[in-house]
Amino acid sequence: MPKMRLDRLLAGQGLHTRKEVREWIRKGRVTVDGAPERAPERQVDPAEQTVAVDGVPLRFQEHIYLMLNKPAGVVSATEDRRQPTVLDLVPPELRRKGLFPAGRLDKDTVGFVLLTDDGAFAHRILAPKNHLPKRYTAVLDGPLDPSATAAFAEGVDIGGGDITRPARLTILENGPAPRVEVVITEGMYHQIKRMFERFGRTVTYLKREQIGGLPLDPALAPGACRELTPEELRRLTGEEAER
Ligand code: URA
Repeated sequence: MPKMRLDRLLAGQGLHTRKEVREWIRKGRVTVDGAPERAPERQVDPAEQTVAVDGVPLRFQEHIYLMLNKPAGVVSATEDRRQPTVLDLVPPELRRKGLFPAGRLDKDTVGFVLLTDDGAFAHRILAPKNHLPKRYTAVLDGPLDPSATAAFAEGVDIGGGDITRPARLTILENGPAPRVEVVITEGMYHQIKRMFERFGRTVTYLKREQIGGLPLDPALAPGACRELTPEELRRLTGEEAER
């Protein structure tokens, strides 16, 4: 990040207004490299200097990238008048102006949702031409014809003029409530549910387990959310994809 005014830097995180942060500065609550700074116009370089409020050093990043373990019953939207949204699950310290889900899951689908305020990055993740794989596990309502695996590998006509790209289906356990794994590289509306409908099956449970090369952190409880490390961010974009 280039040098910028102290008040702009503090307000730029999107959580506080310039007026609020100027008040902090005026009261001597803000230090730069340990020394109280009372000039809001002071130019600081957040990469080189330590800015603290009430003694707590702040980390400044241009953008934020969050992994959310979405529970059922929450919509993948930034606002909704009636239903809880994925943004409602973000703790205050991780909130940023412009945060949105990069890719949607249905209300009843659980698992990995990436939240970011970086539009260009989200575009790269979502652009169909980039074929970023997304891995899901699902439970179905009855035995699945094993020929579905070959059909998924060809691409499935899911109606409405939509034909999927080749997808990978692994039947983990067949029987009255089969457990399956599906890897798709696009995100058509209700895509996985519609793919199984072609084989006479209803998806009763659906979880997104992985985006690109990055699996959902198994330690992240449903409804919890945390920042990605730079290494995880690289894995997500597929630079070190496992699959
Ligand atoms: N496919 C679906 O049918 N629903 C989702 O939420 C994700 C993929």
